[in-house]
Amino acid sequence: MSGNLKIDPTRLPHHIAIIMDGNGRWAKKRGLPRVFGHKKGVQVVKEIVTECRKIGIKVLTLYAFSTENWNRPKKEVNVLMELLYNYLEDELNTMLSNNIRLNAIGDIARLPDWVRKKLEDTIKRTASNKEMVLNLALSYGGRDEIIRAVKKIIKDFESKKISINDINQELFSNYLDTKGLPDPDLIIRTSGERRLSNFLLYQAAYSELYITSVLWPDFDKKELINALYDYAKRERRFGLTSDQLVEKK
Ligand code: FPP
Repeated sequence: MSGNLKIDPTRLPHHIAIIMDGNGRWAKKRGLPRVFGHKKGVQVVKEIVTECRKIGIKVLTLYAFSTENWNRPKKEVNVLMELLYNYLEDELNTMLSNNIRLNAIGDIARLPDWVRKKLEDTIKRTASNKEMVLNLALSYGGRDEIIRAVKKIIKDFESKKISINDINQELFSNYLDTKGLPDPDLIIRTSGERRLSNFLLYQAAYSELYITSVLWPDFDKKELINALYDYAKRERRFGLTSDQLVEKK
């Protein structure tokens, strides 16, 4: 269901991934401590999840906490963990009533026990939901994910579960945290920075990038719709020529 959206549903992304940047700057501009930006950021997360579900987006990945974010001041890390815990607590019923399955990617073992347990519990309780996957990238880094995948592959090679000739792109994808999920069609980054910052490095090979200068706490459904209109206009060639794409149709 895409409501008033005037976009051919076949031109909507199946998987949207978002680098939610600019919380700190949003707070600073208002003379507030950084954590106020994160708090407003959580409200925006709620609005964008609801909107994506309404539009019919099948997978939404949110970069909520990177492997590098562990190096932030301890107090800020604690607030982010508390916000995540409260988000999971507050949103369980919304996920259940909207048929949304929660998934997480990243080095989840590094999360404090109380957050990890809440996360695992929410994942379990929403496991049979089918309409949309809300995929949270937590303690996530693309390089870290690739290295963990390589280690798992070597283990399976050593125990003779796989041989060298089994290793191809499909097998490799199945060792990544995103196993079973399609690659992102559209990656949105807020607050103007033009980089991937270690996000979905393997999976982003053919993703369309949409950069907006809007800070995450100011991002709203109108901004999301702007990104979707922009995406719908693009020609995705996956290395082919335009003429080849016409021939394929
Ligand atoms: C980037 O802004 C944002 C983060 C590092 C954290 C994102 C977290 C949230 C939006 C809230 C928690 C999420 C969930 C799913 C409950 P920044 O702090 O790097 O901003 P800056 O670049 O302006 O300093």
